[in-house]
Amino acid sequence: MLQTAGEYRATSLERGRNTMKKFGEYQLSDGRRLVLRTPRWEDLDDLLELINSVVEEEADIIVNRKVTREEEAEWLARFLTNIEKGRTIGVVAEVDGKVVGNSEVTRGAGAQSHVGFLGIIIAREYRDLGIGTRMLETLVEESRRAGLRLLVLDVYASNTRARHVYSKLGFMEAETIPGMACKKEGYTDIVRMYLKLD
Ligand SMILES: CC(C)(COP(=O)(O)OP(=O)(O)OC[C@H]1O[C@@H](n2cnc3c(N)ncnc32)[C@H](O)[C@@H]1OP(=O)(O)O)[C@@H](O)C(=O)NCCC(=O)NCCS
Repeated sequence: MLQTAGEYRATSLERGRNTMKKFGEYQLSDGRRLVLRTPRWEDLDDLLELINSVVEEEADIIVNRKVTREEEAEWLARFLTNIEKGRTIGVVAEVDGKVVGNSEVTRGAGAQSHVGFLGIIIAREYRDLGIGTRMLETLVEESRRAGLRLLVLDVYASNTRARHVYSKLGFMEAETIPGMACKKEGYTDIVRMYLKLD
């Protein structure tokens, strides 16, 4: 049964020690150290700041209102539980000890259990440093390792940076769905992209 955030908190320190995995360590072009690793309960406040900063700048993501610490805690407890159960691959980007990026691939259900649905966000000040590319390369590698056959994502048509990075990694554009997202300015198009892993 899924745990509440409170129940999760009670055992998280022990779990974190057991399950934290480092995927790689790199030097950024500005000299800072980037670590890609699995998320842990102690990342809660960094992850809260990250999602709310990206919401505040009205970036091209689906979440469009700030979340409370309690909502983020509930979400993180579910996220960590899904990672432990092998349903989700989670990769966070840590620069100089602070989590500045978060990404995931979540396995579909039933007839789509060979499909991974991908999402990624990086804090504004940390973009265009190659972090997104590294995180996506890691997600692709880990998805292959987990036996997934196909990765799928939805991106705002206006999000030219994200579309460029996904294309660079080999993702193909399947279709554009008119008006699938609603921004302040009005309805906007979404592009569905996919990457075959075999
Ligand atoms: C999209 C995102 C994950 C990419 O991560 P990133 O760390 O900024 O990406 P990288 O630094 O690895 O690569 C950026 C690339 O985009 C290019 N780029 C930057 N701005 C661009 C633009 N407006 N149009 C096209 N390409 C652009 C850069 O030149 C670089 O290209 P290169 O690798 O060929 O040199 C990140 O910018 C982000 O989180 N954005 C806000 C949230 C978001 O859009 N999430 C995705 C939702 S689907």
